[in-house]
Amino acid sequence: LKILFVASEATPFVKTGGLADVAGSLPQAIKEMGHDIRLVIPEYRQIALEYLQQAEHLLHFRTKLGWRDNYVGVNKLENRGVISYFIDNKSYFDRPNLYENDDKHLQFAYFCQAVLEMLAQIDFKADIIHCNDWQTGALSIMLKENYQKYSFYKDIKTVYTIHNLRYQGVFGREVLQDALSLPDKYWDLGVVRHDNCVNYMKMGIEMSDIVTTVSRTYAQEIKTPEFGEGLDYAMRMNSNDLYGIINGISYEDNNPSNDDRIYSNYSVEKLRGKYENKRRLQEDMGLAQRSDLPVIALISRLVDQKGLDLIVSVIDKLMEEEIQFIILGTGDSYYEERFKETARSYPTKIAANIKYDATLAQKIYAGSDIFLMPSKYEPCGLSQLFSLRYGSIPIVRETGGLKDTIQAYDEISGEGNGFTFASYDANEMLSTIKRAISLYQQKDIWTKLVRRAMKSNFSWKNSAKEYIKLYYKLLEK
Ligand code: GLC
Repeated sequence: LKILFVASEATPFVKTGGLADVAGSLPQAIKEMGHDIRLVIPEYRQIALEYLQQAEHLLHFRTKLGWRDNYVGVNKLENRGVISYFIDNKSYFDRPNLYENDDKHLQFAYFCQAVLEMLAQIDFKADIIHCNDWQTGALSIMLKENYQKYSFYKDIKTVYTIHNLRYQGVFGREVLQDALSLPDKYWDLGVVRHDNCVNYMKMGIEMSDIVTTVSRTYAQEIKTPEFGEGLDYAMRMNSNDLYGIINGISYEDNNPSNDDRIYSNYSVEKLRGKYENKRRLQEDMGLAQRSDLPVIALISRLVDQKGLDLIVSVIDKLMEEEIQFIILGTGDSYYEERFKETARSYPTKIAANIKYDATLAQKIYAGSDIFLMPSKYEPCGLSQLFSLRYGSIPIVRETGGLKDTIQAYDEISGEGNGFTFASYDANEMLSTIKRAISLYQQKDIWTKLVRRAMKSNFSWKNSAKEYIKLYYKLLEK
């Protein structure tokens, strides 16, 4: 198959969230199964120079977007076997910020159009264009309305993956003509409209041939008002073509036995290095080097979605326990301040790292015992998968992908790979944490649990196969 994977960010080039991890590793897994899949992202200022310098300038052309006449540069780089294209236009992508721009409707309308036109220019006749999240939501409608009348584009099918339904790309009606050059009939048809606004996410959902999201449970949840972010009716109407495929993570890039970002390597068989990681982490964090205390970790964007209000509301009670708590992340200033404050109140127990630091993240996965992730909602969640891989036992709320990947530890059968709680309730979370803490004191049981967690398999293999099956199904439709 020939597939073009379109995303607004991808590792190792540029990352603000989990989408980048997926866009950086899923294409590679599909490629390894013998398909010609290529990646395309905008050429942001934030892409590390080493990659931009390695990239080769392939071609450039101009494209009209409404009344605007825009430059499109296409730069190409092969990274671990996957060909990646960067769409270069300085006025749209050379910005201090990826998404927080007043003209983001234009940035991403332009991106979708440039991607479509690039295909013909590089003569890559894709069977499938696989889009992701609102930034690429306009691509299918542009394809159907403006391009499929040309034979080159005629048979191309589209897949649209929702990574987070909350962020929708919502703009005024004028955007339809001004940014998307689409006829008014689309407004009347409603496929682009929600709440009297142009909605890029809804376009992707309504106009793509197949819609997927990143876990089975989230695929069910978003059909309900509680999780549907106002679009649950659209999810229900498209539910025949809505699939949930769980994300994987790269098991090569995240391997405790050869990861050079962590203090000491270890494996399921040889856990000793994990204890060394814990000792060194405690030292770096300015915490007492005590192996008898469980180290609880929180690595997260500091936003509402992640259930941080639960933690804030019981932090004093949590601090009555014999634990250490390490926080890493940035986000809403409210949470940043609260966590800094609590770290000042409990300097011997809490280390708050209010920053983005991918290397430190890895050290924390390796050096912690327990990983806390009480999300309000979670389309898939990747951090719990990293923590499993590094033997830090997840405590999660049963929602979305967390529900699909973490099975509660069962004291009788000894099965499970973490701890879970059902209601979005701080006391329920707290008592689950307490259970984990007390189990931590039973060394044999805990070590078995760590081994079982590390053996859970969430590499891309299975999920990549599911995507490929879906691609074939779509082409037969
Ligand atoms: C978004 C979701 C997260 C998911 C990621 C990758 O960041 O919030 O749950 O794992 O996308 O699909």
